[in-house]
Amino acid sequence: MQKFVIHGGKRLEGDITVQGAKNSALPILSAAMLCEGENILENCPELSDVYAACQILTSAGCQCRMQNHTVSIKADTVRNSEIPESLMQEMRSSIIFLGAMLGRTGTCILGYPGGCELGPRPIDLHLQAFQKMGVKIQEESGILTCTTPNGLHGAKIHLQFPSVGATENIMLAAVLARGETVITNAAREPEIVDLAQYLRTCGANLRGEGSSTIVIQGVKKLTGCTYRIMPDRIVTATWLAAAASAGGTIRLLQADTVSLEGILDVFEQMNCSCSHTENTICFSAGKPLRAVRFLKTMPYPGFPTDAQAIVMAVLCKANGTSVIEETIFENRFRHVDALVRMGADIQVTGHAAVIHGVKQLHGAPVSATDLRGGAALLVAGLGAQGETVLTELSHIDRGYDSPELLLRSLGADIRRI
Ligand code: UD1
Repeated sequence: MQKFVIHGGKRLEGDITVQGAKNSALPILSAAMLCEGENILENCPELSDVYAACQILTSAGCQCRMQNHTVSIKADTVRNSEIPESLMQEMRSSIIFLGAMLGRTGTCILGYPGGCELGPRPIDLHLQAFQKMGVKIQEESGILTCTTPNGLHGAKIHLQFPSVGATENIMLAAVLARGETVITNAAREPEIVDLAQYLRTCGANLRGEGSSTIVIQGVKKLTGCTYRIMPDRIVTATWLAAAASAGGTIRLLQADTVSLEGILDVFEQMNCSCSHTENTICFSAGKPLRAVRFLKTMPYPGFPTDAQAIVMAVLCKANGTSVIEETIFENRFRHVDALVRMGADIQVTGHAAVIHGVKQLHGAPVSATDLRGGAALLVAGLGAQGETVLTELSHIDRGYDSPELLLRSLGADIRRI
């Protein structure tokens, strides 16, 4: 079992380059299955979730190679419509391969993803949308067999909630379907815009991404292209939080500042200084850090649920009382117990956490319970007095590409053992 040993309190100084976005890479890897010819995806983060996505592509019959953050995919040899159960279990986002597999082969057999560490993860919105597009779904012993007896066709789909995964899955199925698909109350996340731009580069006909209505006209074929995955906004937020927690001044290069406006505003409320050009953020930790009166997680452009735990780790040491309400996932305060073990003063009532800032956190043995919760403990450990031993790193490795190397280059005292 691997662990991070962190000696907190070392100021962070220097420049780092932001990795590519996991949540953009995964749907784009899935979309590559729809194309003729070769796809070259640059700036792909090297993460266990990305490796799992590559394994799904390989098991479907694609040729997939990853080297130096570039993945090349040839999908001309796709022959298998079944997503292996082990990969469905390894990565909940495997569901994102359903739309592409249907678009490519007209069939998909996959396990029901079930719950995960964030609580129940239903896929009802995905399945209802596919049924409207002509997909027949049979479920037996947790295995879904999805077929398209009359081919996939476009449909008008209103999402009851702007689900990121459902919006992406519908887009993936619709680009090669017959006729027009209109998604209303679509998710507006920047990763959806990235997926749409990639699909358009491959020859898809779609518009409206980034707004609540996406219109897709099916085309006959897509052709592979070279595409650069957008920078990861949640990883960017994590490194800002690390510097806020430990103190110091850092520069983040190749960041996507447009998608970060809401997050940067929260750091400014905490008394940190964030100035930016188009793709570089200059950040100085607040002295002292100030509480944020009320933060509520919301679909984009609201404050992202994925940044909630990370920002909470900083607010633990901010002057005053902060309140965070989590509205997207039911079980997303699992990092709180570990933060309290490190000296934080946090009370959770239902979907809200009340954080009374303390002067200092202290190191402790703690375990990551999920990806962003684990990143929050990393952030807390970097700013805590003494030694933090952080275990269950597999959660963190799903989303962060060599975090200890980056942090060490900024002066942090962190080792992976
Ligand atoms: C994506 C992100 C994840 C982020 C989340 C919300 C990826 C790979 N993951 O996850 O990091 O935290 O968006 O920004 O991009 N829901 C249903 N029925 C459905 C689908 C979703 O009830 O069919 C609910 C979920 O249980 C959850 C909410 O909708 O409460 C948001 O889920 P969704 O936007 O779909 O998140 P993901 O796409 O799974």
